Amino acid sequence: MFLTRLAFTTLFIVFALIFIGGYVSSSGVGLSCPDWPLCPAGLVPMKEFIIEYFHRTVAATTGIMVFATMFFTLRSKETSKSTKIASMIAAGLVVGQIILGAIVIVEKLHALLVTMHLGMGLILFIMILTVFLDVRQISKSHLQKPVYL
Ligand code: HEM
Repeated sequence: MFLTRLAFTTLFIVFALIFIGGYVSSSGVGLSCPDWPLCPAGLVPMKEFIIEYFHRTVAATTGIMVFATMFFTLRSKETSKSTKIASMIAAGLVVGQIILGAIVIVEKLHALLVTMHLGMGLILFIMILTVFLDVRQISKSHLQKPVYL
C-alpha cells in the first residue's frame, strides 16, 4: 500500500533528523550557521557549517514528507478519524518545529528552547509512528481477507 510506504519513509526521515539534531547539539555546531533561513553562503553547502546545513536541509525535506503523509491520510477513506487527527497534529508540529528551530538560533541556543525543540521532535515522531502503525494494520487486513471461490 502506497500510504504505508510513505508513512514509513516519513518515520525514517524524522528519526534521522532527530539523530542529526542530537549530533548538531552534542558537537556544539548549533550556531555555525547563524543566519535564517539560509546559511551564510545561501544554498551552497560549505564545510564550516555542513552539519547544521544538513540539519536544515533534512528538516525542509521532512516538512514536505509530513505534509504529503497528512494529505494522503486525509484523502484515504480507510484511515480512522484518530489517524487523520494524528497526521494533522504532525503537520502542525513540523511547522512549529521549523519556527522553533529559527528561534533557537536567534536566542543563541537557550537551554529551555533547545529542550522544547527536542521534545517537539519526539512528539512528531510519535504522531508519525501512530499513522504508520494504523495504515500498516489496514494494509495487513487487506492481505488477510478470505478468498471465496
Ligand atoms: C522537523 C524539524 C526538526 C526536527 C525534528 C529537529 C530536531 C532536532 C533535535 C532532536 C535536536 C537535538 C536537541 C537536543 O539534543 O537537545 C535539534 C537540534 C538543533 N536544531 Fe533542529 N530540528 C528540526 C528543525 C530545525 C530547523 C528548521 C532548524 C533551523 C535552524 C533547527 C535548528 C537546530 C539547532 C541550531 C540545533 C542545535 C541546538 C544546540 O546546539 O544545542 N532545527 N533539532
